[in-house]
Amino acid sequence: MDDNKQFKPLKLHFTVEQGDFIRAGEASSKIKKVLSQLGFPGPLIRRVAIAAYEAEMNIVIHSWGGELEAEIGPEHVKIVARDRGPGIPDIALAMEEGYSTAPDKVREMGFGAGMGLPNIQNCATEFIIESGEGKGTVLRILIAVKE
Ligand SMILES: Nc1ncnc2c1ncn2[C@@H]1O[C@H](COP(=O)(O)OP(=O)(O)O)[C@@H](O)[C@H]1O
Ligand SMILES: [Mg+2]
Repeated sequence: MDDNKQFKPLKLHFTVEQGDFIRAGEASSKIKKVLSQLGFPGPLIRRVAIAAYEAEMNIVIHSWGGELEAEIGPEHVKIVARDRGPGIPDIALAMEEGYSTAPDKVREMGFGAGMGLPNIQNCATEFIIESGEGKGTVLRILIAVKE
């Protein structure tokens, strides 16, 4: 990207529906596709794709619906996942590997390993969760192009 540091940040916006397992993953694949078209390095693309996918799936599985935004710049990629609720009552607990409240129906589809938030943490340079019981959840994820 050294020869291409001047481009204006590119913003992408997606609506993510609760329980829509047909379209689930579309927003994160689109983000991944745009990053590869722009020529970002593979390891960066993988970190963004994992973080965006986990954030998107959490909206599908655990929320009442929301949105995913990506801001792609030469130095970093920012992902914001925002939903309407029901919120995360205990963020530290939700961050633990293997902790999941996913219902059996969702586990039968192969989700609910409780690794989504820990995976986002591992992929992110900066990761902030704003949530609480009865509130919506906002995830702010920043991934630096150069780690
Ligand atoms: N957007 C969200 N809204 C409400 N609860 C959430 C949200 N994202 C995560 N959680 C809670 O945090 C838990 C852990 O999330 P995660 O690590 O992604 O595991 P999983 O999705 O496999 O359950 C979830 O089971 C759920 O209880
Ligand atoms: Mg998850």
